[in-house]
Amino acid sequence: MIDFLGDWKRTHYCGALTSKDIGREVVLMGWVMRRRDHGGLIFIDLRDREGLAQVVFDPDQNAEAHKKAELLRNEFVVAVKGKVIHRPEGTVNPNMKTGEVEVVVSECRLLNRSKALPFTLDEYVDVAENLRLKHRYLDLRRPVLQQNLILRSKVAQVTRHYLTNNGFLELETPFLTKSTPEGARDFLVPSRISNGDFYALPQSPQLFKQILMVSGYDRYFQIVRCFRDEDLRADRQPEFTQIDCEMSFIDREDIITIMEGLIATIFNEAKGVNVSLPVPRMTYAEAIRRFGVDNPDLRFGLELVELSEIVKGAGFKVFADVVSGGGIVKGLNAKGCGGMSRKEIDALTDFAKIYGAKGLAYVKVTAEGWQSPIAKFFSAEEITAMDKMFAAEEGDLLLFVADKPKVVNDSLGKLRNHLANLLGLLDKDVFNFVWITDFPLLEWDEEDKRWSAVHHPFTAPMDEDLAYVESDPGRCRAKAYDLVLNGNEIGGGSIRIHQEKIQSLMFKMLGLSEEDARSKFGFLLDALEYGTPPHGGIAFGMDRLIMLLTGSDSIRDVIAFPKTQKGACLMSEAPSSVDARQLKELGLRLAAK
Ligand code: AMO
Ligand code: AMP
Repeated sequence: MIDFLGDWKRTHYCGALTSKDIGREVVLMGWVMRRRDHGGLIFIDLRDREGLAQVVFDPDQNAEAHKKAELLRNEFVVAVKGKVIHRPEGTVNPNMKTGEVEVVVSECRLLNRSKALPFTLDEYVDVAENLRLKHRYLDLRRPVLQQNLILRSKVAQVTRHYLTNNGFLELETPFLTKSTPEGARDFLVPSRISNGDFYALPQSPQLFKQILMVSGYDRYFQIVRCFRDEDLRADRQPEFTQIDCEMSFIDREDIITIMEGLIATIFNEAKGVNVSLPVPRMTYAEAIRRFGVDNPDLRFGLELVELSEIVKGAGFKVFADVVSGGGIVKGLNAKGCGGMSRKEIDALTDFAKIYGAKGLAYVKVTAEGWQSPIAKFFSAEEITAMDKMFAAEEGDLLLFVADKPKVVNDSLGKLRNHLANLLGLLDKDVFNFVWITDFPLLEWDEEDKRWSAVHHPFTAPMDEDLAYVESDPGRCRAKAYDLVLNGNEIGGGSIRIHQEKIQSLMFKMLGLSEEDARSKFGFLLDALEYGTPPHGGIAFGMDRLIMLLTGSDSIRDVIAFPKTQKGACLMSEAPSSVDARQLKELGLRLAAK
């Protein structure tokens, strides 16, 4: 028998009851989290999005309600009317938000039943993620996910408030649009009305927000979905949300100041964490030199040291040959890891090889000096000089990679993070921010044999480097900046090119013919010729930000309906095949599988 809700109105969220409510008559509505029978008394933990409340059914006080309670099973939906009392002596639960009180039920309505669940909601750890994603409606009932999504809503609200107070307009840009390159593949949508043509879902609103600046809507923002068909990882989804901003008549300093204010406000209001401003800065060149990557995690040391000068004349041919061939040798001191076994070091070597290293030379620093297969190749002076660079002490493990700069920095940079994880140096409650500035404008793409934009093609070169864009592209720096938090890029932006001539030059440098540039970006090039103000902006990855705020391991845990690593929604079973009729209308025919 299912009861009607009738004219009952909820008076409190379960999780919001406190000792201040003692003595009140309340109406709670929610799901049965668990039921315990205690010789006559029945206890139920009733759950809603705010948390749990204990409700008690006493056969002596109310036989009818008690009878109903006997029917209740996990995840049944009920409404209860009753009185809030202080829990009896000795039964207060300090681990529960509402642990001081309970509700003695006078009337109970069973609003709906539930089948037995395919997995338990309390001990989620042991449940395979795919099963949870298939039944996402159940998974989302878990308190952890509820807390994550409530915090996500709070972040959106604080963001809107802060940006609106700073004069930003919230404006929308289209989803059915033309390709905007951000370095990933586009998701395409076939047109029915114009068979053979396709819209692209935006990888970001980049071009439209710039056009809004051309039109004079100075200070735009949008909390906006972006779509990128790229290989997925724990911190990447095919559709994700950006806090996207653009401003006119400003320079880098203005953007950095306003945006670090936004981040500090979010952390303060959503999490109660104080971010001290200004956020420190580091140039791209320094980040690569000291940490090997452009998103350094500054919660720990283990900095890289450059040894090329010392080893270039040494007897170890591997190193000397690399240096004479234009490569470099760098190392890092894995503090206190001198006791690692051969097997453990082999595992580190395999890790470095993922990033292209050909090997990982190692040295154990002992009381008797260097213990290593390569120790014999170095003179006492060379060893002393390297010990000094590494600040080596007994018990340390020194690790070396020799190769092209990119391989050395990549492999040692990633190894540094890997070691910090192994050594337990990553504290989730520490929030370490840094702005990375002065990125290169262009980088040489070995595979495609052409230059590509490091940020995106609309990013302005530094004024003093503008003269070299054509003659020496590799040396040009961009007016681009990233905000990095604990080794994660949480936002990136730049001052844009606002002159048509420079934008055309940029397209040329990227290997686009004039014709291609016009067909892809003609509207931008045209707009730039009609009084475009200097402008720039930034976009934050909102999912990543919330992942870090909540200490989650994956952005899937802060998105209501995420996709798997294969880009599938296991609940709705997207992507899926479509009717032959739909294909026909779109003018499409599938190639044989
Ligand atoms: P960018 O490509 O750096 O810049 O993206 C901005 C931020 O978005 C987040 N992000 C992602 N989050 C989840 N899943 C993904 N697949 C994903 N890709 C990116 C990152 C990143 O820092 N239009 C420019 C911004 C600008 O110049 O104003 C842009 O999109 O946290
Ligand atoms: P080998 O002379 O090839 O036996 O290598 C001796 C040691 O140097 C081994 O520990 C290798 O892993 C390491 N090694 C080989 N090539 C490199 C390299 N390019 N960079 C760093 N270490 C290397």
